[in-house]
Amino acid sequence: MDNKVYIFDTTLRDGEQVPGCQLNTVEKIEVALALEELGVDVLEAGFPISSPGDFNSVVEISKNISRPTICALTRAVAADIECAADALKFAKRGRIHTGIGSSDIHIKNKLKTTRENILEKAAWAAKYARNYVDDVEFFCEDAGRADLDFLAKMVETVIAAGATVVNIPDTTGYCLPEQYGAKIAYLMNNVPNIDKAIISVHCHNDLGLATANSIAGLKNGARQVEVTMNGIGERAGNTSLEEVAMVLRSHQETMHLTTDINIKKIYPTSRLITRLMRMPVQPNKAIVGRNAFSHSSGIHQDGVLKNRENYEIINPHDVGVPESLIVLTARSGRAALKHRLEKIGFQLEQEELDATYKKFLEVADQKKEIFDEDLLEMMGQSREGRIYEIDNLEVHCGKKHQATATVTLLKAGEKMTEIADGNGPVDATLKAIDKIVKQEVRLEEYLVQAVTGGSDDLGKVHIQVSKDGVFYYGFGADTDVIYATAKAYVDALNKV
Ligand code: KIV
Ligand code: ZN
Repeated sequence: MDNKVYIFDTTLRDGEQVPGCQLNTVEKIEVALALEELGVDVLEAGFPISSPGDFNSVVEISKNISRPTICALTRAVAADIECAADALKFAKRGRIHTGIGSSDIHIKNKLKTTRENILEKAAWAAKYARNYVDDVEFFCEDAGRADLDFLAKMVETVIAAGATVVNIPDTTGYCLPEQYGAKIAYLMNNVPNIDKAIISVHCHNDLGLATANSIAGLKNGARQVEVTMNGIGERAGNTSLEEVAMVLRSHQETMHLTTDINIKKIYPTSRLITRLMRMPVQPNKAIVGRNAFSHSSGIHQDGVLKNRENYEIINPHDVGVPESLIVLTARSGRAALKHRLEKIGFQLEQEELDATYKKFLEVADQKKEIFDEDLLEMMGQSREGRIYEIDNLEVHCGKKHQATATVTLLKAGEKMTEIADGNGPVDATLKAIDKIVKQEVRLEEYLVQAVTGGSDDLGKVHIQVSKDGVFYYGFGADTDVIYATAKAYVDALNKV
């Protein structure tokens, strides 16, 4: 059996349908180009009959993408299939992804029909789609809860009718890894014409098992995996691309499965999708979360500083993450403090280090995190004179006015004021600050959170900027979210 696993990316279909993640066609093309560079094999570009916008996106993605197969979703309905074929007319390689429910729950409660009728419809849809394209994928929806013998019959029927790929979705994220793996193994061993098609795994994360289930499916013979970047998707999400790619790579010696993913592109692609889809990644998300390569306990920091591999199974550079982070908190030990002090230019003898560490713990007990400027202060180099502080901020905005911000910053007793316009109050404020600080940074993340949810709430703002590949974080909190934003941005710039 071939060892190559085909990566089928559905970020622009199963991922994009999540509320708040919608993209326009230009943004979808940007994502599709990034996914092409990342090395996906199949790119599910949309569900053309669902809206004229989705139809148009499939057309434009087909025109702009050359290497991956472009796939369009349909129901097992003639109008859907015809519409998808039309949308794919510019694709170098087009695939129609059609299908119907396979579990009794779906057959009885949703489709209100019989198993016999489902088999007929399934065969018809696969055959009908083959009139338009040579590559037809059939999804047996809710296969995770389907009767195994019926599912095997359905898979055999659609392959006989012309399906080249058969998708076995765990639509509701119900299965356990061993159950799902056994389901795939059963199909591989009991469907007589299984060698005529590729089996695909498509798992949802309702029980947090999407990646584990997908891997179990691949171990048992599936050779295509359906994923989204950052695991975005319906409800709790889909299997995440970066997790599957890194599981297969980390365990290549025992699993012998390969993908064409250029893993160096994982982090930049994740950032692009976070930004365009306005869907923050949880900080502790594997591979791409803010804390995925950040070490905060003293024991771990000491271990990582001695040898990265003590506590990291992936080199962050391999997946495009600039560096591991040693976060200084009251939990940090002398090794981490010494390391950070050396980075900012202080070489301390043991005695001096011990004394500084005592001071460090006192400050760290009061503050959540210790930054370089705190260390400088501890080392007797006052921050005053070297950092910017906000003296005043005035913003004018409204439906009929372009947003304008006037910002006054203080540095070494000197006041500097600048005015800037922007497409909103945040944009105007950051531009006015940029005019004063003149650091050419790139805004990587901007996150506003309400603490309690009331209208008088405190807004907490996290900002991440990068300069020359190095990332800097800033934080600000205030009842005025624009002021909190300015504080967070200035905080980040002071660290650059
Ligand atoms: O989860 C699912 O079953 C799907 C199908 C449409 C493939 O997304
Ligand atoms: Zn799905």
